[in-house]
Amino acid sequence: MGRSGSSGESLTFVSPGALAQGFRAPASHAGGRWFESITPHLRRVTVLGASGSIGQQTLSLLAAYPHKYRLAGLSVHRNTQVLERCLADFLPEWVAITDDQARADFIGRNPLSIPVLSKEALYERLATDPGEVVVNGIVGAAGFWASYYALQHPAARLALANKESLVFGGRWLAPFRARLVPVDSEHSALFQCLHGEAPESVEALILTASGGPFRGKKRSQLERITPDEALAHPVWKMGSRITVDSATLINKALELIEAYWALWRAR
Ligand SMILES: NC(=O)c1ccc[n+]([C@@H]2O[C@H](COP(=O)([O-])OP(=O)(O)OC[C@H]3O[C@@H](n4cnc5c(N)ncnc54)[C@H](OP(=O)(O)O)[C@@H]3O)[C@@H](O)[C@H]2O)c1
Repeated sequence: MGRSGSSGESLTFVSPGALAQGFRAPASHAGGRWFESITPHLRRVTVLGASGSIGQQTLSLLAAYPHKYRLAGLSVHRNTQVLERCLADFLPEWVAITDDQARADFIGRNPLSIPVLSKEALYERLATDPGEVVVNGIVGAAGFWASYYALQHPAARLALANKESLVFGGRWLAPFRARLVPVDSEHSALFQCLHGEAPESVEALILTASGGPFRGKKRSQLERITPDEALAHPVWKMGSRITVDSATLINKALELIEAYWALWRAR
């Protein structure tokens, strides 16, 4: 941590990990967007489901492009071990722990100078000050409300991995589609292909199904498969829920619904 005064003001630079070692933002900045005075060009990004596969991949991108992006805030549900690692690597304005018990335990152990939001406070933050981009990597239907509140903010873009948001509530998110960017790989590819094309020129959207651990197996062979076999995706390392859904092809059914709301209706 050091101090500089290139434009006549005193600036505070904070090394990664300083927060974990007890760094406190200056009183005049605490709880505010104090870093903007020193990094006005950075895009503020919120990462939801930061402890998961999508969340961790997003955080590694933020770490790789520190001159472009800054972590506004992040959420985990219960995994406060990963949260502590994130605090050591980044300097978010806030964090959220959406499970009440895990949040209470964490606050008891870690007095932080930044807000540790509950689920309700997270929703409020998403609706009022989510940053420019919200990446939703929450698993399951719980992700819908985070998507919904992030889209209530008039300027934020939602980078959506949580397909359940659209499966569960596509009808309610559809009016905000212009600010929704699909992150799911097939949908992201289609989204990029559709960009700039005349809507009436699109006859069909085709989602591919490339395989999974049970590709080529006969029905009789599927009768005795184990959860471990379903979790052994030959190509991708993803969260356990989507890996099992991929093995059973349920994921592809969810992706069809996701494509309908995110892409087809938007043609
Ligand atoms: N992984 C991929 O490559 C991939 C690809 C395409 C689409 N997706 C989609 O992206 C989403 C995330 O997948 P993933 O593989 O990254 O999942 P994951 O590794 O299981 O991570 C899930 C994240 O959601 C959090 N979470 C769990 N329950 C929650 C709740 N009730 N409320 C709030 N947060 C909760 C978890 O927090 P804790 O760790 O604290 O429990 C964790 O941060 C899914 O919808 C999936 O279908 C993933």
